[in-house]
Amino acid sequence: MTRLSTLALATVLLTASIAAAQQPPAPGGVTGTVTGARAGGPPPMSNLLIFPKDTPRETVITTMQAFTAALGVQCNYCHVQEGRGGRNDMASDEKPAKKAARGMMTLAREINAKLPEAVGKGAAATTRVGCATCHRGVPIPKQITDIMTEAGSTGGAAAGLATFKQLREKFYGGQSYDFSEGALITMAQRANTATKYDDALVYLQANLEYYPKSARSYSAVAQMKTAKGDKPGAIAAMEKAVELDPNNAQMKAQLEALKK
Ligand code: HEC
Ligand code: HEC
Repeated sequence: MTRLSTLALATVLLTASIAAAQQPPAPGGVTGTVTGARAGGPPPMSNLLIFPKDTPRETVITTMQAFTAALGVQCNYCHVQEGRGGRNDMASDEKPAKKAARGMMTLAREINAKLPEAVGKGAAATTRVGCATCHRGVPIPKQITDIMTEAGSTGGAAAGLATFKQLREKFYGGQSYDFSEGALITMAQRANTATKYDDALVYLQANLEYYPKSARSYSAVAQMKTAKGDKPGAIAAMEKAVELDPNNAQMKAQLEALKK
């Protein structure tokens, strides 16, 4: 999702959540005039443990919108918020994600306190770490190569590649995952380290469908074919690599070596 549409979505969600929060109090709740709250307005915030207790509501909500955008989730990922007719209790801590988010707020604060010294810059000149720095639009910010490696450990390259395709379908164009030429080459190198050359070739063939001009992919194909004892195949792949990247001295040298 683009940043803009994420923001737009967060705004829509916010409006929806305010509407939800504006429902009359549940039976058994306070029905008279509540000090500090407009009649029919959202209940006063009652469970701020990280924010100072007197933080203005708008400040909290703005931060909340940033959370939803950074994690690519809605308010109800962390809050009990079932909408009209359901339970709506932003103060409740029953969702584990809300507790994790508190821990993350503290963690981010600690990182930011230590960063200036670590990089030897003044506080004002030091880049701040926010939720989005790590999360990039997903709640569990894992590298795509690690997700694929996990899938591949039980289902082989076919499963790893299927996972890649699913993620690409959903996230391509966003910042959550690396869909550049390098991701599947990394997978091929990992398979190579595990001496699974056929798995490596599966990843590389797929990469060449996405990036037909990837000299690095052809060069890696040559490496796998060499490992499999297919010298003519290795030479053909390396020739293609050199053709696509004629100024690459290392690839040229490898081609010469293969031809000897
Ligand atoms: C990633 C988790 C997360 C998401 C998503 C999130 N919140 Fe929160 N929210 C929190 C945490 C954590 C607190 C408590 C902060 C503290 O303890 O100071 C909180 C507190 C609040 C409070 C104060 C509740 C009280 O009475 O103490 C409100 C209101 C609130 N959030 C609204 C929202 C809205 C509206 C959205 C969607 C736009 C949203 N939140 C999305 C984690 C989240
Ligand atoms: C230094 C990197 C980093 C920063 C900064 C960071 N997070 Fe996280 N966060 C992670 C990682 C990594 C995980 C996943 C841990 C795991 O494997 O379960 C995570 C997990 C979470 C989870 C649990 C998700 C789930 O479904 O289990 C929540 C909620 C969360 N972060 C919210 C936040 C919020 C809100 C902020 C900003 C205040 C933030 N994070 C800042 C790295 C970070």
